[in-house]
Amino acid sequence: MRMKRNIGIGLMGLGVVGGGVARVVLEKNRTLAEEIGCPLALKKVLVRDRGKPRPVLVDSHLLSLDPQEILADSEIDIVIEVIGGEHPALEYTKEALLRGKHVVTANKEVIAKHGAELLKMAQERGVSILYEASVGGGIPLLLPLHHGLLANEITTMYAIINGTTNYILTRMSNEGVSFDVALKKAQELGYAEPDAANDIEGKDAAYKLAILATVAFHTVVQPEDIYCQGISRLCKQDFRYAKELGYEIKLLAIAKQGDGSIEVRVHPAFIPVEFLLAKVDGVYNAVQIDGDLVGTLIFYGRGAGAQPTASAIIADVIATGRVICSEGKGSVRPRPPQRMPIRPVSELETRYYLRMGIADRPGVLAQIARVLGDHSISIASVIQKEADEVTQTAEIVIMTHPAREQFMQQSVSEMEGLSVVKEICNLIRVEE
Ligand SMILES: NC(=O)c1ccc[n+]([C@@H]2O[C@H](COP(=O)([O-])OP(=O)(O)OC[C@H]3O[C@@H](n4cnc5c(N)ncnc54)[C@H](OP(=O)(O)O)[C@@H]3O)[C@@H](O)[C@H]2O)c1
Repeated sequence: MRMKRNIGIGLMGLGVVGGGVARVVLEKNRTLAEEIGCPLALKKVLVRDRGKPRPVLVDSHLLSLDPQEILADSEIDIVIEVIGGEHPALEYTKEALLRGKHVVTANKEVIAKHGAELLKMAQERGVSILYEASVGGGIPLLLPLHHGLLANEITTMYAIINGTTNYILTRMSNEGVSFDVALKKAQELGYAEPDAANDIEGKDAAYKLAILATVAFHTVVQPEDIYCQGISRLCKQDFRYAKELGYEIKLLAIAKQGDGSIEVRVHPAFIPVEFLLAKVDGVYNAVQIDGDLVGTLIFYGRGAGAQPTASAIIADVIATGRVICSEGKGSVRPRPPQRMPIRPVSELETRYYLRMGIADRPGVLAQIARVLGDHSISIASVIQKEADEVTQTAEIVIMTHPAREQFMQQSVSEMEGLSVVKEICNLIRVEE
């Protein structure tokens, strides 16, 4: 049998993550060779600007502006895609697979939107596409779901998988600052992009949830299947009431499976302070997974950054390299998923926190209670603070017992039409 001399690596992107990956490949080459069975050889690195100063020393002759120098090079076995964004990353990934190259990627957008198609292409070409780094940065999530937890039926996942929003919510909760102040601080510290819309609106978390749910439930979940609500409506008052009631507010990505269908949603949620997820602060990520055999597991760690993300990518490279070295024995190809129905969010049943401004006069609460009662929603508690004497307006917070989302939304619309209701300030779901 002819032993492979080395495994050729084509690295697409040399930014935060690509720089971290290149550093590990160059500095830990001996250890990696022992793990894999033969050394990795960094053959080419795709960038946009060859003259840009780089934090990692990569030979300048390895830098290229031409993707074909990687895609058409028969000595490159594994393409690591860390340029990000949907295009041209998707086209490069497809071409790499079609040319019989293995792919390792950190690209959540490409995997969330096109994962099923790419997995099929890889399977047809007898190669693999691995993407551990696309969810939770350095936290191993997909490998446990693909391997260690396979005997389980995964019933529920609660995830904090966007470090930017978790940083903002932590500051709002701990320091009582406004959303705008917390966002500005996150941008100053480099935790949020100048255009942070994808994070703030929950889109980034939805991409990651689509990937997690697809793997955990062996079904295809697309980003557009996911009900998605961001954090920009949250105010200081919501955090004050949450504390008073014994909750934290987190942007949760939630996936549940049962009765032959699944539920997938991303939105801010009240969670009891004693829950472990309520204690996940700053840019950290955490994913709670419930399996029928294993019970509850919690994965916690750094969801981003050069080194944590490189840790996940290199693990995928090692797994792929071992298969290449053993000439295909011990496949790392996950099974392509099927399609399960997705339950609409209108069927959700949960408790709600409702904050509103009302006219400060007798009989108003009775009118609100009647609207809720007409939709079979019962009130668990009410908080009313001092009224504003000038505007004659009072702020009230209602906590409901479990109610159906559809009925809650109908009640809110009806309340908006009541002359005594000045403003519906916020409606937040409670997860217990
Ligand atoms: N940053 C994190 O902590 C993190 C964590 C988990 C996953 N990820 C994912 O990892 C990927 C990379 O993120 P990043 O933070 O490393 O991004 P980044 O710092 O912006 O780096 C992107 C790199 O790709 C190159 N590039 C971009 N578009 C290109 C194109 N069209 N042709 C050739 N080269 C191109 C850039 O070249 P130049 O350097 O010449 O501009 C740069 O080196 C993304 O999919 C991201 O979602 C990132």
